[in-house]
This record gives sequence, C-alpha cells and structure tokens, in this order.
Amino acid sequence: MSGSDQASRRQVRVAGARDKAPPSLQALAAEAESLKASDRRGFLKGLLAIGGAAATGQAVAVTAAGSLPPLVPPWTRSLGRGVVSKPYGEPSAYEKDVLRRTVPWLTAESISSISMTPLQNLKGLITPNGLVFERYHAGVPEIDPEQHRLMIHGLVERPLIFTMQALQRFPSVSDIKFIECPANGGMEWKGPQMAGLQFTHGMLSCCEWTGVRLSTLLAEVGVKPEGKWLLAEGADGAAMARSIPIEKALDDTLVVYAQNGEALRPEQGYPVRLLNPGWEGNTSVKWLRRIEVGNQPWQMREETSKYTDLMADGRARKFTFVQECNSVITSPCPERPWQEAGWYEIEGLAWSGRGRVKAVDISFDGGVSWLNAALKGMVMSKSLTRFGYRFKWPGGPLLLQSRALDETGYVQPTLRQLREQRGVNSIYHKNAIHTWRVEADGSVRNVQML
Ligand code: CO
Repeated sequence: MSGSDQASRRQVRVAGARDKAPPSLQALAAEAESLKASDRRGFLKGLLAIGGAAATGQAVAVTAAGSLPPLVPPWTRSLGRGVVSKPYGEPSAYEKDVLRRTVPWLTAESISSISMTPLQNLKGLITPNGLVFERYHAGVPEIDPEQHRLMIHGLVERPLIFTMQALQRFPSVSDIKFIECPANGGMEWKGPQMAGLQFTHGMLSCCEWTGVRLSTLLAEVGVKPEGKWLLAEGADGAAMARSIPIEKALDDTLVVYAQNGEALRPEQGYPVRLLNPGWEGNTSVKWLRRIEVGNQPWQMREETSKYTDLMADGRARKFTFVQECNSVITSPCPERPWQEAGWYEIEGLAWSGRGRVKAVDISFDGGVSWLNAALKGMVMSKSLTRFGYRFKWPGGPLLLQSRALDETGYVQPTLRQLREQRGVNSIYHKNAIHTWRVEADGSVRNVQML
C-alpha cells in the first residue's frame, strides 16, 4: 500500500468514525447567558406567546433556546407514548450512531468477518447485548433450541446427549467476564492504521454470562484418566472447532446459555456456547454441539493455519490461549475529542486473562513519566476494569498512554518490547501500550510510539 493510499484511506475512516460533536460547553453557557440577559418584559412575552399558542392548539415553533431552562421544553408540555408501544425496548433515537462497525477491506465476505464494539460510547463494565462484537466463520446459524443437542463423548465412561432443558436442570452460575478476539489490535503490528478506538480495540466486550460449569457436565459423563484434551465444536456452517486442555475445562470453563440476563443472542452462540474466561475469544466456541474427550489436541484449521503467532524467524507459536494484560484510554479518543482547556476525567478500560487488574498508570508524555490512575467500581478477575484520572487540561498537545499491571505481576509491554520478542509478522495477541496524541485543538489521533 503506498503512502498516499494509506493517507486517503485514513482520512475516509476518520470522517466515518467520528461522532457528531455535542454542543460545546461554551455554546451552552453563551445561550444561558443570553437568556439571563434578556429583559423581564421580553422574557414574559416569550412565555405568553408559547402559552397562547398551546391554548389554541396551534403547533409551537420551538427554537433550541426555547427548550432550555428556565423555559419548559416541548416534551414536558405533551404526553409520551404508552406501555408496550415497543414490547422489546430499544435505545433512544438520539443514540442511533452507537453501533457495531466493521472494516470493509479487512475480509472478503461478511459471513466470515468481524465487527467491533463502540467502546467510545460505553459506560461501566457491561457491554449491552446488541453491541457485543461479532466474529463468524460461516455466518450466524438460526438454531431451533428444541432441536439443538450437546453431545459429550470420546474418552468418557458414559457418553451423553443433552437437550437445552436438560442443561438448564444443572445448578447455574453467573459470572462477569470479558471476551476478546486475539486479533484485537492485530492490524497495527507494523504501524498505526485505524482511525479510532472502535477499530483499534473494539474486538472486546464484557458480559454477565450464565450457564453450567463444564466440570459439572464432565463429572456427569466421567472423563477417563487418559482424557487430557477436549475438542469443542460449533453447529455453524464452519463447524468451527478448537482443542482445549482438560486443566482449563476443569478450572473455570462454562457452558453458557444466557448473557446479561437474557438468552444468548444468535450472534453470540444461541442457544448455547462455551466460555473460556480470559482466553482468546475463538476458543469460546459458539453454537456448541459437541465436546469430544481425547488424549491430545486435534490440530484443527483454527489452531494451525489460523490463531497461531508467526514469529520473526518464520516459526509459529501454537496454543497461545491467554489474553495477556492490556489497557486503553477510552476518553478522550479519536471519536471523543476534547473541546477546550479545563477539567476532564480521563477514562479507560484494563483487563487481564490471568486474573484481576492490580493497577493502571497514565502518562501524558508518551511514557516518560507515569502517574497512578484510580480503579473505578468493581475489580473482578478476567473482567473489564474501568480506570479514571481527573485532569485539568491546560490546552496543548499530549501523548496519552495507559499501562496496566495484573495480580500476577505482569506489566503491559511497550510496543518496542513486544516487537523485540515477537517480531511484526503476527496478527494475534498485540497488547502493547497504546498512544493517543491529543492535539492543541482537542482532537485525538492514533499514533504509535516505541
Ligand atoms: Co493465541
């Protein structure tokens, strides 16, 4: 790709990815000032005009200023819609731009592609079900739960076939866990490519998942002593399958049928999927139909040709399951620029596939010096963790970075450290410290620093 191609492509993506700017604090303050300055007679005249029009049933032409306090906005002077006008609720029409997005040039087909979560718009830790990133290998199957079965067989004492009803008779567990595609950030090993946060880090979501411990089901079938690996296979058109070591299966793997309080979405594996907390998302096989117990890994396509890490010397790492500790600043970011100098809260997300996030540091000078950020709200193992740092921006450029540390003592690496160890040929497991350049006008650019 030539330099000019890259530049024009980047411009297009910036234009497409940037949110509509909200009214600035300055503009709102000026409006409030003008209202306050208007004389009492003129003020009353405005109120009377609105009252008069409403009394005669005429439509009231309401300016933006007419909706602001102390005037009464139009939605307070009329009735809203009633119950079950939308039996399944949906976001406000004003949130219509909060959407999953894809990168069209990334894959040839939408049925074997990926969409990203708009992390720039999310609050707290939980990703709403409609915004959880998607990854398919042969599109979304439409599965009738009445007809769906999960078979567990192989090196077991009692091979069994479970209906959805049978699965839901076992004791259920609910747990908040992130799920991340190991290709998250993978387009940027060689340089900054993507215009915004949604595309640099959006293959990442966090939900409350409900289901049965896989260890419970394995106890039911009785794994033979020589059973060391499992093959988990999906019911999609790709029959996507991955090998999972028995240690993980007996530790914290779940067979889940619900997310955030409701049935799994079709995109997330309805009616049942595997969930391997902290491991690359691809191992959390969706539309789960079969678990075979064996004594060695199966060497499936998705663990040989794909989801392996090509090193500088041409060899590849295999079965690199854990999503290592990572973090990113979500506000500001290219989609959420600052408006003017003054107080802001820098916010971001940190996560580790090995356990809890222990600390997050912030740098304003591209990693020269570091300050402690606060961890906000719940800090849970293998979940997203939100951090914040209150900051009075004096104006002028910044090189903003975050660096997370997990409870095992692992520190998120610099890009230089990661490249020294892994080269630049890989797609997967890029968890390097990320840099946003805040420009003097408050806009934010994706840049890379070694
Ligand atoms: Co891997």
